[in-house]
Amino acid sequence: MEEKLLDVRNMKVSFYDEKGSIQVVRGFDISLDRGEIVGILGESGSGKTVSSSSIIELVDESLGRVDAGEAIFKGRNLLKLTEKDLKSIRGKEISYVFQNSSAALSPYKRIGKQLGEVLRTHGLPDSKEHILKTLEEVGLENGERIYYMYPFQLSGGQNQRIMIAQCILCDPDLLIADEPTSSIDASLQKTILDLLRDISTRSQMSVIIITHDFGVARYICDRLMVMYGGLVLEEGTIDEILNSPLHPYTRELIRCAQSLAKDDETMYTIEGSPPTPYQFRDECPFYGRCSLREDACREGIPEKIEIDGRRVRCIRYEKR
Ligand SMILES: Nc1ncnc2c1ncn2[C@@H]1O[C@H](COP(=O)(O)OP(=O)(O)OP(=O)(O)O)[C@@H](O)[C@H]1O
Ligand SMILES: [Mg+2]
Repeated sequence: MEEKLLDVRNMKVSFYDEKGSIQVVRGFDISLDRGEIVGILGESGSGKTVSSSSIIELVDESLGRVDAGEAIFKGRNLLKLTEKDLKSIRGKEISYVFQNSSAALSPYKRIGKQLGEVLRTHGLPDSKEHILKTLEEVGLENGERIYYMYPFQLSGGQNQRIMIAQCILCDPDLLIADEPTSSIDASLQKTILDLLRDISTRSQMSVIIITHDFGVARYICDRLMVMYGGLVLEEGTIDEILNSPLHPYTRELIRCAQSLAKDDETMYTIEGSPPTPYQFRDECPFYGRCSLREDACREGIPEKIEIDGRRVRCIRYEKR
């Protein structure tokens, strides 16, 4: 079997607070083959951004730390590398599109200059020709004009494309895109997703895409991980998750999404709200909201159980 491009196991992440620290990610695993597109889905606060950014140690070390786990990327554990080594990987081998992506572009510099800097930072020549080719690749016409423009002279959608151009400029092996389409209209959303998929197919780039939206996941992902309470509760292929979800949480999320899509007058919602890290207990995080709960769900965090190549954290699937 070919080696995985990325294999993250049992990662845990904490932030410092007045009392010491608080763990917000309690068990994050993800693995990707080359060219594979994997989605991470879950309600707000479930730990999607913290987990995925911790893979390349984007969490400021004065704010938090990775407590445990490993992230093997092309044979090297990213969590053990020096900042210098990580710097050479970030943006070149692994690119990250931030949730609030326009914040990642400097408002004061022309697009061409910013993209040139990305190339130079990674020891590549600042080639205008390469930049114009990349702008064309992300579907921006008039690259020559855009090259000399500032971000504020472009629309939100155009800036979104510039962000993706910035990320693929160095031909990365892995792109992590945190809600890359959440702030744009539906037709542009489709265009951006098509673009990501085309680039992934063309250059065997793997993609981790974070989203709230099953529609986005269904459209682009090969596999999906469902996060809740700082844990991956379920993982499977997109068909498995959507057509035969195992975890009660996944089932409820899908039910909500279906109700939203049907435009029901009484929109279905999951009662209650997700636990904050301060409410985390040594039990299934979905316990309080689960209609199938039983006392045994409170006897520790459920283990990951493998069923036909899928994984789920729910005691209902334990052999009892
Ligand atoms: N710098 C920080 N200091 C303390 N806690 C933080 C920090 N950043 C995130 N958290 C906490 O970590 C948890 C996970 O946050 P995260 O941003 O990963 O959620 P998310 O799944 O990406 O949510 P959303 O869908 O809203 O983007 C949350 O409880 C959040 O409050
Ligand atoms: Mg987030």
